[in-house]
Amino acid sequence: MDYSNLTKADIVELLSIKDPIKRTALQKAAEETLFEKCGPGIYLRGLVEQSNICRCDCHYCGIRKSNKKSQRYELTEGDLLNVAQQCVDLGFASMVIQAGERHDAKFISFMEQALQRIKKETTSKQLPKGLGITISLGEHTKETYQRWFNAGAHRYLLRVETTNPDLFAKLHPPEQSFKARVQALRDLRDIGYQVGTGVMIGLPGQTVDDLANDILFFKKEDIDMIGMGPFIPHADTPMSDSDALPLQESLEQTLLMIGTTRLVLQDVNIAATTALEAIDPKGRDYALQFGANVMMPLLTPESVCGDYNLYPGKPKVQNKILVKPNVTGRHYAFDEWGDSQHALLKVME
Ligand code: 5AD
Repeated sequence: MDYSNLTKADIVELLSIKDPIKRTALQKAAEETLFEKCGPGIYLRGLVEQSNICRCDCHYCGIRKSNKKSQRYELTEGDLLNVAQQCVDLGFASMVIQAGERHDAKFISFMEQALQRIKKETTSKQLPKGLGITISLGEHTKETYQRWFNAGAHRYLLRVETTNPDLFAKLHPPEQSFKARVQALRDLRDIGYQVGTGVMIGLPGQTVDDLANDILFFKKEDIDMIGMGPFIPHADTPMSDSDALPLQESLEQTLLMIGTTRLVLQDVNIAATTALEAIDPKGRDYALQFGANVMMPLLTPESVCGDYNLYPGKPKVQNKILVKPNVTGRHYAFDEWGDSQHALLKVME
């Protein structure tokens, strides 16, 4: 197969691999592409989950608003500043702030001010532009996105979850739409954010054809960053006993998705996501071997960490990062923002 010019049929074939020899060939090709386009460095972002209060009721998600069993919490600006300082101390030059979706004016201003403070307080000789800040706060108006961008965030993560509109409709209540999600991604791009998206893998009714379309969507929308993970049914949601793919198969399918996405998109950043680790302690290492190049160690304070309960098996403690990754030929890129080559090359055009 000519990996440099993949057709949709090729993508479907790669995503359907069962033969271990073909699997290893995909892994090698993905790694080669990664090294050529991005290098062997693994970019680090400290992840803080600011709050699990959410206005949405996504059928798969453990922090959906109807889950009365979820203990709700909010971190303060001081908490966020502490995590920012922890990132600086650990040599993570970037941070990700994630939270449930809230549209109230108080939250929007809170986040705006927190972003300004984090930028200000982390700017130093060592970090002349402060910490790189990624936010992941759901769907908002363009005006809100602009305010947070002006306040200092320069990357935004908003998963599309699936690009099959019928499947999207099954996963979400009627007030959410695939169209609005795509529009939000375009608004973010217009403002100047580096844009990240991604999908869940192993959803009930999801086909390999859907997954191939997901990759083609990432390409068509000129996405800079990808985060994909296996779907893990949560007991306190309407999808608790859905006929999702068995977890091991979802893990395997996710690795094939990561490898294939690396081959098709080439120079984007791809995260080794936490959901992989919920299935297998080595899950994130496997993702790195299939062409992922971003790790987001969990730095949410341990007093509330267990309450950001998107899916079962999510770590309830902060991640300790070793000096060296477990995979050979790779290193952590300490003290680097680690923007995607794809985004950096666009700026130079
Ligand atoms: N299994 C796997 N991933 C999930 N997410 C939410 N619920 C689940 C689940 N049950 C993911 C979604 C969301 C991200 C924050 O977490 O993709 O975008």
